[in-house]
Amino acid sequence: MCGIVAYIGERQASPIIMEGLKRLEYRGYDSAGISIYHDKIKTFKKQGKVLELEKIIEGEDLQGTVGFGHTRWATHGPPNDVNAHPHTSNSGDIVLIHNGIIENYASLKAALMDLGYSFTSETDTEVLVNLIEEVQKSRNLTIGEAVRQSLNMVVGAYAIVVIDAKEPDKIIGAKNSSPLVCGVGENELFLASDATPIVKYTDKVIYIKEDEVITLCDDGTYSIVNLENEVTENPIEHIDLKLESIEKAGFEHFMLKEIYQQPITIAESMRGRINAAEGWAKLGGMAEYMNRIKQADRIILTACGTSWHSALIAEYLFEELARIPTEVEYASEFRYRNPIIKTNDFIIALSQSGETADTLAAIKMAKDRGALIYGIVNVVGSSIARETHAGSYIHAGPEIGVASTKAFTSQLTVLSLMAIILGYEKGMISQGYYRQLLTELESIPAKVERILKVDDHIKYIASEIKDANNSLYLGRGYNFPVALEGALKLKEISYIHAEGYPAAEMKHGPIALIDMHMPIVVIATNKRYYDKVVSNIEEVKARKGIIIAVVTEGDTAIKALADFVIEVPTTEDPLSPLLSVIPLQMLAYHIAVMRDCNVDQPRNLAKSVTVE
Ligand code: M6R
Repeated sequence: MCGIVAYIGERQASPIIMEGLKRLEYRGYDSAGISIYHDKIKTFKKQGKVLELEKIIEGEDLQGTVGFGHTRWATHGPPNDVNAHPHTSNSGDIVLIHNGIIENYASLKAALMDLGYSFTSETDTEVLVNLIEEVQKSRNLTIGEAVRQSLNMVVGAYAIVVIDAKEPDKIIGAKNSSPLVCGVGENELFLASDATPIVKYTDKVIYIKEDEVITLCDDGTYSIVNLENEVTENPIEHIDLKLESIEKAGFEHFMLKEIYQQPITIAESMRGRINAAEGWAKLGGMAEYMNRIKQADRIILTACGTSWHSALIAEYLFEELARIPTEVEYASEFRYRNPIIKTNDFIIALSQSGETADTLAAIKMAKDRGALIYGIVNVVGSSIARETHAGSYIHAGPEIGVASTKAFTSQLTVLSLMAIILGYEKGMISQGYYRQLLTELESIPAKVERILKVDDHIKYIASEIKDANNSLYLGRGYNFPVALEGALKLKEISYIHAEGYPAAEMKHGPIALIDMHMPIVVIATNKRYYDKVVSNIEEVKARKGIIIAVVTEGDTAIKALADFVIEVPTTEDPLSPLLSVIPLQMLAYHIAVMRDCNVDQPRNLAKSVTVE
């Protein structure tokens, strides 16, 4: 939530910052702002997207080689011009941008008001910038030291960047829980929430760790201390992020590009990890801990949102193929409910961004209790990736659309591989079935390609149901979590109310909602429960509901009953979510476009939820 970008060096800062803000806009788009130093600090900020900020800075003199920008996802105070970042201290000397939440801001604000400070916004950020000013003034400190000492008084999550007009040759950054990365160029330095605004200029980055304060100087040098003022040395790492991978490449939306990338991204998730012809599969992260994993009494998967849906599918996979008792936990609940965790539990955290605050806190708690923690993460070097004992990157490449698509199928690919490997290693599946599953997994990218070819048909179905206000998604077994995921995709980007249910649960309540206006998407590709799903469809038809069925190629029984049918290639049941989810992503996408919704940046949402 919220994107931060800062520059200090020899170039003009404002074009770098404005371009960076556009790249970071997926993190929040309630407002945007920029500050540039040149003799004095100039700040411009505006409610709405970066485009609105662009309009108000047109014609302004934004010369200067030091500056920063912010794109906001509102936490404290509604989205408006006043609450937009940057925030300025009472003296006008210090400006600050912030991603996170200062939990004790109310008591700090009261204390500052007693000292005569006044506030114009409702934000916790304006409290922090004035706290820094007060600490600097009362203790006669440099800005770096004032930031460090102030942060020792703060409870909460933050990534912040600070500029002080009294020391304009430096920028201060600090981090606790929210991400912050420093780009290291030739005589220039960058700070950003992720590497996307930086890659155009340098592939050298430093990840700022928890409770660290970095000082960037205009001669290209930097220093890092922790909150105890001990010097820390963070290695310079090389990132392999190509500029093309963070652009739309001719697609109308990032989400559409990411849906269409799936044949490649699924293959990338398997690359070097599987060879069905030779009969092997391996995951480097698992190999090191294989004995401990094999002996685990229990697997617990924890995640949020779409990643939680992947975890639900993994529960079916691990229990069926590896016969290990498996539980799935919402990270936000798991972290707070004092769960029983034993040292022989195997905890898997799933996260596209690797920064989700609840998932990060959940694994820290489980790690403290002695469990083995494994991360399945997309963003390389992210907080969750660094907090885990071992893990596997999903290698889906940057996912910019707020609605997760390719990360979901790549997570499923890695989870399927894990379950197949574990099942075979534990002797729970035969060599024949092991090979069959590997062969099938290798064929998934080509099968996804075939589904993408029926886009026009899915678009037609979208046009028929786009005006609905409510919808149901039903599935059984492996396809129950797919129903949840299909419903989430539709509601988050089209704002149509959608619920996912296990198909059999329909008669325990949701059936009351069904009438001739209600589209019901039934995922009916499972071989195992086919007849039962057919009965559920009959029950819906008897109430005049509109059936959109996702079936396997060659199906006849459901075709005869459903109003609309989308065919997907056949596969093994454990792998069926990798195919059945694709038409649901496409359906949601087309409906949202037809309803004129902002597909890549749906209202109220942000890509990466780094606050609770
Ligand atoms: O980055 P993560 O996978 O940890 O994010 C979890 C959720 O915030 C995310 O999946 C969210 O639900 C998406 N908007 C779903 O499309």
